[in-house]
Amino acid sequence: MNILEIPRNDYKLWADKKLERFSNKIDDLIVEINNPSSLTKPEKTYMSNIINQHNIVFFQIDKEATDLKAAIKIMGSQIGLGNYEIDSKSDDDGLTEIKIHSKHQSNAEYIPYTNKKLNWHTDGYYNNNENLILSWILFCRTQSESGGMNKYMDHEIAYILFNEAYNNISDLMLHNTYTIPENTHTQRKAVDSPIFSFINGKLHMKFTMREKNILWNDKSQKAASNLKNIVNNSDEYHITHKFTEGQGVITNNVIHMRTPFTNLEKKNRLLYRLRSKKRMEV
Ligand SMILES: [Fe+2]
Repeated sequence: MNILEIPRNDYKLWADKKLERFSNKIDDLIVEINNPSSLTKPEKTYMSNIINQHNIVFFQIDKEATDLKAAIKIMGSQIGLGNYEIDSKSDDDGLTEIKIHSKHQSNAEYIPYTNKKLNWHTDGYYNNNENLILSWILFCRTQSESGGMNKYMDHEIAYILFNEAYNNISDLMLHNTYTIPENTHTQRKAVDSPIFSFINGKLHMKFTMREKNILWNDKSQKAASNLKNIVNNSDEYHITHKFTEGQGVITNNVIHMRTPFTNLEKKNRLLYRLRSKKRMEV
């Protein structure tokens, strides 16, 4: 709902309903899945109801599939995901194992592969407009020994809370709200981005708390810092969950973070990730 384009009453109705229906109880947000390779109609309906309301749905796979990577990919395709991002760490279909890589790299884009805290962000905030990440799946193969807690915040709620407190959302919608400079390691060119934009009528957010290697538009800097405070301080709208084995999450690229974690020798946190250039659609 673009506050700049629709009647104020319609916006308010939508925003009030959105906040009213918010839940951070995992029981309200999780679907048990019998066979990810072949979702039943009720499973799909349940998933779609939850994601349409919250932009996030957790799932639990009851049975051990023989090839879990293949099963997760097939599950994604049954709910509209696809056109997965393929990068140097993913397989040919775009599935990436998120685990500690022995060779630590200092660049912020590699923090997922360490056991460090991962600050609030949306995936692909450094992608250009042709390669926006509209949704993603994370699936937990092995949980960490301690830590490794994830927090999520629906980006539509961040947008609503900002609009409640301030009247300059347009400063966060400039095509060059921020610039991520070129990455010489990955050959990625410099990228200009809005924080908020609308894609096929749906709110899309590109966001990072990163302070180094990011340039803010003079017009946007203050608004961005206000937004960061909202994200940091809105505990009542954070969904906090530590994955156990067999659990996963699908989101329309909501804002998320991860606490640091420790592994045991035989217990190395391992997640599978797929980043899709399509939103979840059932
Ligand atoms: Fe992420």
